[in-house]
Amino acid sequence: MAWSSIWSHFSNSPSVPLLTVGVLSLVWYVTSILNDKRPPFPWIRLPLIGNIISLQFSKEKAFVLFYKTSKKPEYDKVFMIKIGGLEFCVINHIELAREALMKKQVDFADRLPIYSLMEISQGGKSIALGQNFASGEKLENVVQKVTNQAIDLLKGKGNEAFVIKPVLELVQFNIFTGLLFGKEYDFDDPEFKQFMNATRDALDAFGSGLAADVFPWLRFFPFQSSGLKRLKHMINIFLELMEKELKEHKETFDAAGLDTINASLQFAIAEVIMHSDVQEKLATEVDKVLGSRTPARSDRVKLSYTEAFLCEVFRKETFAVFGVPLATTCDTTIGKYELPKGTGVLINFWALHHDPDFWENPSEFRPERFLQDNGELAPRPDSFLPFSAGKRVCLGENMAKSMLMIILPTLFQQLKFIKPDSFEFSYEDSGLANIAKPYKVCVEMRN
Ligand code: HEM
Repeated sequence: MAWSSIWSHFSNSPSVPLLTVGVLSLVWYVTSILNDKRPPFPWIRLPLIGNIISLQFSKEKAFVLFYKTSKKPEYDKVFMIKIGGLEFCVINHIELAREALMKKQVDFADRLPIYSLMEISQGGKSIALGQNFASGEKLENVVQKVTNQAIDLLKGKGNEAFVIKPVLELVQFNIFTGLLFGKEYDFDDPEFKQFMNATRDALDAFGSGLAADVFPWLRFFPFQSSGLKRLKHMINIFLELMEKELKEHKETFDAAGLDTINASLQFAIAEVIMHSDVQEKLATEVDKVLGSRTPARSDRVKLSYTEAFLCEVFRKETFAVFGVPLATTCDTTIGKYELPKGTGVLINFWALHHDPDFWENPSEFRPERFLQDNGELAPRPDSFLPFSAGKRVCLGENMAKSMLMIILPTLFQQLKFIKPDSFEFSYEDSGLANIAKPYKVCVEMRN
């Protein structure tokens, strides 16, 4: 049969347009894969949902799975994932994190216009808190007052085991309200309770990721937006509280850092309960440096073991697992790969802090790894970036460390934390964040 008659036979068939579209799509798909100079995608991307099934069915948390995947030679410590409609480059090694955050910091300084973040910041209008509004004596006074208020509450518990989380939430809440408008709340205050309930609810919604961020079309379905509603509810309650005191500051509220002091304290107290030797060393240092006087910011340089302890809490627990997602501001490169402008970037800080090439037995809690033989703080370790770095470094770093270096010594100076029989330590299920489940503790007065 001549070619012309074969062609005329097939061209009359109704399946020809379909077949042509199929072949062209396949050619386009294969060409786009061959021309893709971005890091590889370890998991097959399904239409609409991307890699969600691979992540959902993994027995491990996303950051552990990413870390283990990045260790496979074919992925070279960096790879791409697709979550719904969003594609992210995941960086799992300090060298590449430094390349992105420090060497090419402008290239990696954008934020993705994620739907929920845009909504709660009124279209990206969030103004980050400055550094000096909370510095100096004001910070010292507020933090000491609030910590002592918490100690009074803890003392009242006697020998009974109790859940410490709400007391630590009060510490965090009162530090912010104390610094922002000079007001501290009582534990039983209905406004404080209402805000904390809304915050827990919002964190619960946000910690598991909001569906509308990765499936943009879901935002048009009212029943799907409950996670975002819970977040907005929390922000609104806080704004209402602030409006009452400080109307003109309504638009400068920035939710970043709202739960970080509380998260640090919950992990810190869990670690001292699980490591009584560490608690003894902390108490010994505090007694030696402070005696019975209250700690000041200037004491920080002398409290090396306490600072090493805090660094080890930040390292081992890395609760800001991926920080805040970044995005590229222009076409750029990472390692040997190319990243187009607007690519989402996740730095897996947990991977940096658990890389056995830099940390001996990374799952072990050992503050001494941050100390020199003479007991002084060692220079900053290589693979340690709890507050990120570069253009988007955490604006609350100094403030958070200053607060914690007053709260922790005050606590260890006055109290001993004891592990009750009912003590159980575990993490919330959320795959994107590292959050301690509420646990019970007993306290005893020292001296
Ligand atoms: C132990 C406590 C904290 C930790 C571990 C922490 C960690 C981080 C991390 C990893 C980022 C992401 C940086 C990036 O995008 O590369 C970040 C961003 C940020 N943090 Fe913190 N943070 C803490 C406390 C705070 C506090 C108390 C505040 C405010 C009072 C705060 C304010 C911010 C702001 C405003 C940003 C965004 C910076 C920007 O986008 O330019 N943080 N933080």
